[in-house]
Amino acid sequence: MKLAQETPSKNTTEEKTPEKKKTGRKELIKKFPVKCNLEEYATTYDTFTWEDARSEISYFQDGKVNAAYNAVDRHLTDGRKNKVALYSVDAAGQVQKFTFQEIHDAANKMGNALKALGIKKGDRVFVFLPRVPELYIATIAIAKIGAIAGPLFSAFGPDALKDRLQDSEAKIVITNPALKDKLDAIKKDLPDLEHVVIVGADKKKLGKGELSYEDLVTGQSSELTCEKTDPEDPLYLLYTSGTTGKPKGVVHVHADIIGHHMTTKWVLDLRDDDIYWCTADPGWVTGTVYGIFGPWSNGASVVSYEGRFDAASWYKVIDELKVTVWYTAPTALRMLMKAGDDVVYEHSLDSLRHILSVGEPLNPEVVRWGMKVYGLPIHDNWWQTETGMQLIANLPCNPIRPGSMGKPLPGVYAAVVNENGEEVAPGELGKLVVKPGWPSMLRTIWRNEAKYQEYFKIPGWYFSGDNAWKDEDGYFWFVGRADDVINTSGHRVGPFEVESALVEHKAVAEAGVIGKPDKERGEIIKAFVVLANGYTASDELLDDIKEFTKKQLAAHAYPREIEVKASLPKTRSGKIMRRLLKAWELGLPTGDTSSLEDD
Ligand code: PRX
Repeated sequence: MKLAQETPSKNTTEEKTPEKKKTGRKELIKKFPVKCNLEEYATTYDTFTWEDARSEISYFQDGKVNAAYNAVDRHLTDGRKNKVALYSVDAAGQVQKFTFQEIHDAANKMGNALKALGIKKGDRVFVFLPRVPELYIATIAIAKIGAIAGPLFSAFGPDALKDRLQDSEAKIVITNPALKDKLDAIKKDLPDLEHVVIVGADKKKLGKGELSYEDLVTGQSSELTCEKTDPEDPLYLLYTSGTTGKPKGVVHVHADIIGHHMTTKWVLDLRDDDIYWCTADPGWVTGTVYGIFGPWSNGASVVSYEGRFDAASWYKVIDELKVTVWYTAPTALRMLMKAGDDVVYEHSLDSLRHILSVGEPLNPEVVRWGMKVYGLPIHDNWWQTETGMQLIANLPCNPIRPGSMGKPLPGVYAAVVNENGEEVAPGELGKLVVKPGWPSMLRTIWRNEAKYQEYFKIPGWYFSGDNAWKDEDGYFWFVGRADDVINTSGHRVGPFEVESALVEHKAVAEAGVIGKPDKERGEIIKAFVVLANGYTASDELLDDIKEFTKKQLAAHAYPREIEVKASLPKTRSGKIMRRLLKAWELGLPTGDTSSLEDD
């Protein structure tokens, strides 16, 4: 396989300075600070062990550790208590600032309120909010009392909510009046749900089991003794999609904070004078780990933006808050590229010094465009909900190869192997695996140990489900998923979930769902459906099916394309053969069809 060209990271070179089109910025290629947090890769990689990270983390006696204590409490005594922890930008662009002291006090009040409601260590408390300050405060509060935080993406519809809240037997959901309706639709199916806490509730309209967030915290003490959790006690439970079945609950523990802290320090390269913006919603793993715990453990100032994507608004956030480090996603970058260069040049963006991306393949074209308009290389990195932290990354101290995910971080041994778990030669395609032992690895799947064991079916390895290859110099290159999981705009979607939602529509008898390559979104969801008796295909019907799925699941999880078929290819056991659907779609050979039902 041919290697792509290297784009040296800023600290190793300067490129030709392109002229800024309109006004202002003279020198687009900025220099990386002479020192990065991780200055020398090779030696650190050879010598680092996770034991070395102990000194960076605050432990209680007997080796107990609480991630929220590390994220917030310890900054009250390390000189950062009056430092801004959170710049919360609402959808209208208004900024609210919270110091570490303020986050601490607010989280303690909420922690006390949860305790007063009977929440104990190990109980599941879910947060179903847009990116408002209470989302961050509540997450810290839940972790501080040793309960398990369940992040929920605010765009989830009733079906997506039900799957998660039922499986986890959640006791409390913290939400707002606008999102509560979706919860109301499924409350009857949630026997374990005791309370719904509503931020900004109209108190006259509170129903049974509903409580006002503001009333709950009023009068609570801002003193709270942090729960001395064991490193292996669960911290958060995040549901993610696989090929089969409903979303599964990935369990992460308090010891994850070691991985959050070190990777944030190395990969995001955060330091005290940074203003850091992670565009991911905490409903996804990037937003929880690198939007809350990792940066706060490092004492960084975090920006959250409630608004939707829009090129000018995003650039405005960067300019107004003087964002220095920006962690975003390939789809967002492709959309920014599509929005054009002029809107870039209408903003200063001078504060930026480090840009990163995760979640899906980052096209070399986008990296090159980033160099041109931002004057900075975009640092891709690879990880998953299950891995709990970045494992492979283009570190600031290493040259970037556009299109590559980078190299394994110190303390991480990643490899490309064959079916038997044997490493293949450089340049050869294989399965992307990692040696277990990094601190943030998932500890189990919630109440489904068998599913957890499937990650280790290649003896000696954790198998990511991704295919990749490694070049002669140890850079990893993503090839695709080894299973049917769809990655649309960086969101992981299981075909089964979409198929289940589709067949709930009265006109759909059968559905098979695949990811179809798309220039902007990486993949879009395409559904093949068989209509129920008495229905005929029309644009109106297909639009209605799309809208229905969007409402039930989430805006990112509906099929943008639906094709009506007389029948779907199935195995003799009745399983829809998505592999064949994909081959049809892409015009590829259909391969072995000997197990087909109709043969
Ligand atoms: O297929 C890989 C893709 O996203 C999957 C993980 O999705 P999720 O658990 O939602 O976590 C996303 C954010 C951490 C992976 O199995 N993926 C993630 N990062 C990259 C990627 N694909 C290509 N390049 C990446 N840098």
